[in-house]
Amino acid sequence: MAKGTVVIVTLILTSFQEYDVCIAGAGLSGAVIAERYASQLNQSVVIIEKRNHIGGNCYDYIDEETGIRVSQYGAHLFHTDNSRVWKYVQLFSDWTKYEHEVVGVVNGKHVPIPVNIETVNTLFDLNITSTEEMDNWLSEEQVKYDHEPKNSEEMALSRVGRRLYELIFHPYTIKQWNKEPSELGPEVTARIPVRNNHDSRYFGDPFQALPTSGYTAIFDNLLCHPNIDVRLDTDYFKVRDTLRCKHTYFTGPIDTYFAHLGYKKLEYRSLDFERKVVRDTGERGTFQPKFVVNHPSAGTDFTRIVEYKHLLNQTSDHTILFVERSKDGGEPYYPVPNEENKALYRRYQGLAAKEDNVTFVGRLANYKYFNMDQAIINALELFEKDNGVLSQEKDPIASCVATTST
Ligand SMILES: Cc1cc2nc3c(=O)[nH]c(=O)nc-3n(C[C@H](O)[C@H](O)[C@H](O)COP(=O)(O)OP(=O)(O)OC[C@H]3O[C@@H](n4cnc5c(N)ncnc54)[C@H](O)[C@@H]3O)c2cc1C
Ligand SMILES: *[C@@H]1O[C@H](CO)[C@@H](O)[C@H](O)[C@H]1NC(C)=O
Ligand SMILES: *[C@@H]1O[C@H](CO)[C@@H](O)[C@H](O)[C@H]1NC(C)=O
Ligand SMILES: *[C@@H]1O[C@H](CO)[C@@H](O)[C@H](O)[C@H]1NC(C)=O
Ligand SMILES: *[C@@H]1O[C@H](CO)[C@@H](O)[C@H](O)[C@H]1NC(C)=O
Repeated sequence: MAKGTVVIVTLILTSFQEYDVCIAGAGLSGAVIAERYASQLNQSVVIIEKRNHIGGNCYDYIDEETGIRVSQYGAHLFHTDNSRVWKYVQLFSDWTKYEHEVVGVVNGKHVPIPVNIETVNTLFDLNITSTEEMDNWLSEEQVKYDHEPKNSEEMALSRVGRRLYELIFHPYTIKQWNKEPSELGPEVTARIPVRNNHDSRYFGDPFQALPTSGYTAIFDNLLCHPNIDVRLDTDYFKVRDTLRCKHTYFTGPIDTYFAHLGYKKLEYRSLDFERKVVRDTGERGTFQPKFVVNHPSAGTDFTRIVEYKHLLNQTSDHTILFVERSKDGGEPYYPVPNEENKALYRRYQGLAAKEDNVTFVGRLANYKYFNMDQAIINALELFEKDNGVLSQEKDPIASCVATTST
């Protein structure tokens, strides 16, 4: 009996695998960290991913029935004002300029989203033509407070006034969050832009583009360095005792890392994607006028419909739609920013700071909505914080940067 135990212990001890760097999560944050350690420092990296694919929430693939490239976890549009990020992403993909535009169905009409001059003219039968007139109109609509907006209702009312709030912001926020805007922190509606001009672009950033061969190909290129081992279908917590790592980067949900302590879980909103194929549309035929059409009104139970055929002028005899509904549970997508969750997060953050040789990185570890460009710059800067700024950057190795074509 005692002998058997000794044998087992010995087996476990000898099966340790040693790496300079261990990373939990093969999303953008983990992949950028892995790429930097391998290409810049020639260190050995293992990246452990519980899903059956790399790419995290940026993952896309070709739908078999229609031949159209779709994103598994919702529409992803790359946009940034950060020229360092823009330069970095050129190393791993070709990019096609694409300026995203969204329309919303409001009172039965298609209007530009974010709200701009045309939105207001269409909805309220006005004839605003200049930025000055739009500013005046907004200023008359806006609710004035003698304090900073305390919640998302006050934030929206202070920015767009009561009428646009009732038509768009209020019903959409309830659909998206299943909470009254007054129960949510001001940052939720502060993030939604409002335009005082005719600009119908969804983002104002100078760099807006789509990866010409899709997002997943970027991850193939980030992770193909020979120093990087990728293990899919593997939960980090199930294997970490078999690893010896000089440093660990954890990109999963921060509360899962400390689950053994039994604190409350951080709350997330998730999305449900209902797949629908519309057959025999003709090669270029589409279902709706734009890639993304929002449905803010209370009359429908979905928030938006995404039609990937619009991207990069894809052709198919059919078209494929994803009807989006917000839900609790499921994949953790959007942190719910209220006081309770923020306080709970700070508690987890305090624990995280005490973990030796572990860096918590990415949107789940920070309990914060990150756009892709923010995830990239955050990972690049953390790498530098942990290793010092490199005097000279090395190019990723050549065999790694061949872009995968479709
Ligand atoms: C619906 C939606 C739409 C978006 N649209 C845009 C957009 O248009 N433009 C934009 O710039 N950004 C967009 N984003 C944000 C973008 O997805 C993120 O910036 C990016 O995914 C962040 O990468 P990450 O690595 O931090 O997190 P993730 O991509 O979530 O990667 C984390 C990875 O860790 C893995 N993991 C978790 N726990 C474990 C574990 N225990 N063991 C092993 N692996 C684990 C997960 O499976 C996941 O693959 C969108 C996000 C969502 C949710
Ligand atoms: C990188 O590390 C490997 C393995 O330790 C070594 O064989 C190789 O020479 C190193 N390459 C460079 C450029 O330092
Ligand atoms: C809007 O105003 C302009 C200039 O005042 C006028 O020429 C135009 O006909 C008006 N349009 C509508 C739809 O009222
Ligand atoms: C797609 O088609 C539009 C309209 O014909 C054109 O302006 C655009 O350049 C095309 N984009 C690509 C990536 O081919
Ligand atoms: C952290 O890393 C240092 C340097 O590699 C090492 O000396 C130390 O033991 C590590 N601490 C833990 C808790 O692993």
